[in-house]
Amino acid sequence: MNNPIRNPEYVPGHGLLKGKSVLITAAAGAGIGFAAARRAIEEGCRGIVISDIHDGRLRQSVDALKKETGFDAVWGKLCNVVNEDNVRELIDFAEERLSGTDVLINNAGLGTSRKLIEMEDDEWNRVLDVTLNGTMRMTRYMLQVMQKRGKGGSIVNNASVLGWRAQKEQAHYAAAKAGVMALTRCSALEAVEIGVRINAVAPSLAMHAMLRKSAPEELLKELEDKEAYGRGAEVWEVANVMMFLASDYASYMTGEVLSVSSQQA
Ligand SMILES: NC(=O)c1ccc[n+]([C@@H]2O[C@H](COP(=O)([O-])OP(=O)(O)OC[C@H]3O[C@@H](n4cnc5c(N)ncnc54)[C@H](O)[C@@H]3O)[C@@H](O)[C@H]2O)c1
Repeated sequence: MNNPIRNPEYVPGHGLLKGKSVLITAAAGAGIGFAAARRAIEEGCRGIVISDIHDGRLRQSVDALKKETGFDAVWGKLCNVVNEDNVRELIDFAEERLSGTDVLINNAGLGTSRKLIEMEDDEWNRVLDVTLNGTMRMTRYMLQVMQKRGKGGSIVNNASVLGWRAQKEQAHYAAAKAGVMALTRCSALEAVEIGVRINAVAPSLAMHAMLRKSAPEELLKELEDKEAYGRGAEVWEVANVMMFLASDYASYMTGEVLSVSSQQA
């Protein structure tokens, strides 16, 4: 039997982002960011800017998106989310290319594995700077720009279930993701008056080639076994939930964090 839980089928687009423009950070990897970019195009967005810190992969990703979808309104712009100038240049670039940004997806996040007892300040700060401060920087300037434009918008942050759950060697990453959740709730409250909704997804495990290469096999197996589905999500299964939150279907949702996981066994 083809079990849709074990082997989910790639769902076609439903026009959820018809007429909207989209900006995504950290979208030149093998993971959720690139999957979200592809999904946004399939959901009918009118234009998209993707960004990343990796120049070569960014070019390749722009080319791949155009080729795979036949959609041409795709632009790439380098941006390290820890750098305020980069952040402002990216958002200004998107405003100009897209004639205004309707949807921002804050995907950038950085993780390492280290016991707290062995943690140096540098490593702690680096993970928080990309994951939490980067999301804050992008959100702060995007809100300023959206306020000026006066057309509202929607922001989707990428948190993690580790913002709620404990895992060894993840104190820095989990603290950063718990911060992203708190940032989502508080910024959403403030953004109501400028017509911007801010929500977050909290994935448990989303499998992709880079993760398979960088994370220990036993750890991935352990995490997969914890899921009721016995597998991690496909990256596009997380992207699908991002599209819903970004779209007008989620018009009555702001400040919410949606877990994307199968119940933990
Ligand atoms: N994959 C998972 O299992 C999982 C689970 C929970 C949460 N998340 C979160 O999802 C997001 C995406 O992770 P992913 O694993 O799907 O990989 P991804 O491919 O979507 O993201 C990795 C990309 O981030 C880029 N990047 C790294 N530092 C950056 C920076 N400072 N500025 C801009 N770009 C930067 C890298 O160059 C790479 O291309 C992250 O925020 C991660 O914490 C992932």
